[in-house]
Amino acid sequence: MFSIFHYNLLHRNTFGIEAWADRFVEYASEDELVRFVKTERNGQPLVHIGSGSNLLFCSDYNGIVLHSGICSVEELPSDSNDTVRVRVGSGLLWDDLVSLCVDNGWHGLENLSLVPGEVGAAAVQNIGAYGAEAKDFIEKVEVVDMQKGTLKTVANAGCCYAYRSSAFKKQWAGRYAVTHVTLRLNRRFEPNLTYAALAAEFELRGLSQPTAKQMRQTVIEVRQNKLPDPKVTGNAGSFFMNPVVDHETFAALLSAFPDMPHYKNESGVKIPAAWLIERAGWKGRSRGAAGVYDKQALVLVNMGGASGRDIAALSQSIVADVKRIFGITLKPEVMFI
Ligand code: EPU
Repeated sequence: MFSIFHYNLLHRNTFGIEAWADRFVEYASEDELVRFVKTERNGQPLVHIGSGSNLLFCSDYNGIVLHSGICSVEELPSDSNDTVRVRVGSGLLWDDLVSLCVDNGWHGLENLSLVPGEVGAAAVQNIGAYGAEAKDFIEKVEVVDMQKGTLKTVANAGCCYAYRSSAFKKQWAGRYAVTHVTLRLNRRFEPNLTYAALAAEFELRGLSQPTAKQMRQTVIEVRQNKLPDPKVTGNAGSFFMNPVVDHETFAALLSAFPDMPHYKNESGVKIPAAWLIERAGWKGRSRGAAGVYDKQALVLVNMGGASGRDIAALSQSIVADVKRIFGITLKPEVMFI
């Protein structure tokens, strides 16, 4: 186990915010985590982080920041010749997993290439991009109870997955730490071109039946063109979730804003938050060192030296303006700590 008191979190969050934790602990195995919970936690406040790509430190953290150092990848026996089962440690970088899967001919995750973060957080957050979601490949999630130090396995159905959400974020928030995720992937590659913007990109490139490698490479290029590199400009990807409104609200909005993009789904109509923010006049604007990215209005950026509170204050102004103009309350995807 790796443990440091009075720890600077600057390099532990992609917003590049300086904040201090009382203690930082990284465990290398399930056993180490169980031992830590049983003998060292002593009821202290605790937050489990991944690579810090979806959180905002608004102040110093008076407690323990915990991180998984379990990066194992293990192929499990599969009951079908068409699929492969892989048990992965929660601390492995998500994109390292996607790359390894593509190299091994294990398919399904290609559209989720370059999504920042680690495997454990991907299972908590149900990451999604370009028509794919992590939940569609997760078979089960192994966790440690952070109060009792006991082990538990949660099958996919028990995780209550929804858009960027799971039981680990909602009713079980703070209760469990993910140690391993078991995925079921396909041996045969079937390109997922359901996301219109991605399909258009392949058409432009003259590739109607891309290979898995071409899929991964294209997704990487599309993301790099649209999203700022956190190594250069601090950010946490999409800051807000895309709101879903009921059909009645949607009809009223569409008559007021006929050019409003929208996507119908089972639960209602999804409106791109980026469009609402752009229409509210925030795209490319900044306040002090906190700004709205000029190529993707859903991304808030640290232009150098912003505090978590600066970013939070900017987000509140955006929420207020979008609410005033459209009557919609944007909900952050980013977790405030
Ligand atoms: N749009 C604007 N202004 C902008 C950008 C986009 O009006 O500045 C509108 C356009 O109509 C565009 C639509 O928004 O067609 C959707 O934009 P985009 O395809 O870029 O996707 P998004 O809804 O902004 C979501 C995810 C991203 C994911 C992309 C691609 C959420 C909160 N975000 O963004 O996920 O990469 O789709 O699938 O669902 C993340 O979660 O951190 C993330 C980057």
